[in-house]
Amino acid sequence: MNSFTYQIPTEIVFGKDSEALTASLVRKYGGSRVFIVYGGGSAVRSGLLERICGQFDEAGLAYETLGGVHPNPHLEFAREGVKKALQWGADFFLAIGGGSVIDTAKAIAIGTANPETDIWKFWVKEETVTKSLPVGVILTISAAGSETSDSSVLTNMETGVKRGLSTPFNRPAFAVMNPELTYTLPTYQVACGVVDIMMHTMDRYFNPVTDNQLTDEIAEALLRTAIHNGSIAVKNAHDYSAMSELMWCGSLSHNGLTGLGGRKDFAPHQLGHELSARFDVAHGASLSAVWGSWARYVYKTDVARFARFAASVWGIRGASEDAAAIAGIHATEEYFTSLGMPTNFTSLGIGVQTDEVLHDLALRCTYYRSRKVGTFQVLDEPDLYEIYKAANV
Ligand code: NZQ
Ligand code: ZN
Repeated sequence: MNSFTYQIPTEIVFGKDSEALTASLVRKYGGSRVFIVYGGGSAVRSGLLERICGQFDEAGLAYETLGGVHPNPHLEFAREGVKKALQWGADFFLAIGGGSVIDTAKAIAIGTANPETDIWKFWVKEETVTKSLPVGVILTISAAGSETSDSSVLTNMETGVKRGLSTPFNRPAFAVMNPELTYTLPTYQVACGVVDIMMHTMDRYFNPVTDNQLTDEIAEALLRTAIHNGSIAVKNAHDYSAMSELMWCGSLSHNGLTGLGGRKDFAPHQLGHELSARFDVAHGASLSAVWGSWARYVYKTDVARFARFAASVWGIRGASEDAAAIAGIHATEEYFTSLGMPTNFTSLGIGVQTDEVLHDLALRCTYYRSRKVGTFQVLDEPDLYEIYKAANV
């Protein structure tokens, strides 16, 4: 086992009716003026927002609401949120939704604690976060893992740049996780979530460090669990057993556990972020659209790793390591397809792109040649271009 540090401070309240404890959790973590952030309307339609507001009324908690977070959330919206939260005097932020809402709440909390600094400076690493305000979460979709992760991802609409910020200050104070709150999800969003959950572990599993036995075993078990329950969930989003397993997989997959001691790769995520930034496609779909092309491009760097993945996750043993590795990649893509998820640009819905666009995607993915991407195989601009090209069918 290699060295690591691991601190997950988020209190998790998991199970049916857990949202009934929200007001007491807010108080426990010091909130008295709660700024509630939600998305495009699902929390209104389900009645969840109204129930939480009623609970706060009864508890005598002051609250203000801000709805309208867009999926792949916008920096500009978060900036407006900071202004409103400062004007109103918020001391606690409650996200009701998924990754987009949670990430926006995290950004508004950071901005409110640092009113002298434009928040984007933290996202582009011009400034370092040294303080924030507490964020609580009521999770309504199992996917991004933001309810326990240290990350927040925003898109700057002016420049078309999508960036993540990782800081311990992004870890929520609490996460309320009631799987029944995900019953209203459209099938496509359930499927996007399954892909994202898998990818948070796969983007850690494929890395140059291979002597972390327990970490690898946990990763493989999580993938098998997500795959099994993902197939059930896309057929029936009211299956409590499947939806609850997925919800817990989502948090564990992105709170660091499945990569401890390793060196995060996350190249498929970086490739996907450029697609979401340019075409506003759902995050999970952007990942499945490029993963197979990435895997086929890099697998020879460590064929044994891909063969182990094929055996442990898919039960595939090939005539050779190479054959097993390729069969494992194929099985993963077939699984994505079975969920209704894309495996190339056409099935992603963006169509075949020109060479100029592919070059621009690759260039942006290197932050204009200021970085390389990934650890499993370190990728530079020509590599990224080749991967986009392979997915461009
Ligand atoms: O906006 P509403 O109306 O709530 O609808 C949302 C949205 O359209 C809908 N939805 C959520 N819960 C629902 C529901 N619809 C019906 N019933 C419910 N119970 O689902 C749609 C997608 O929501 P979103 O929050 O965008 O989903 P997700 O959790 O996949 O978040 C994606 C965002 O998170 C970022 C992604 O890049 C993307 O911007 N990520 C954040 C990470 C993090 N902070 O750690 C890590 C991830 O890798 C990812 O990058
Ligand atoms: Zn993700």
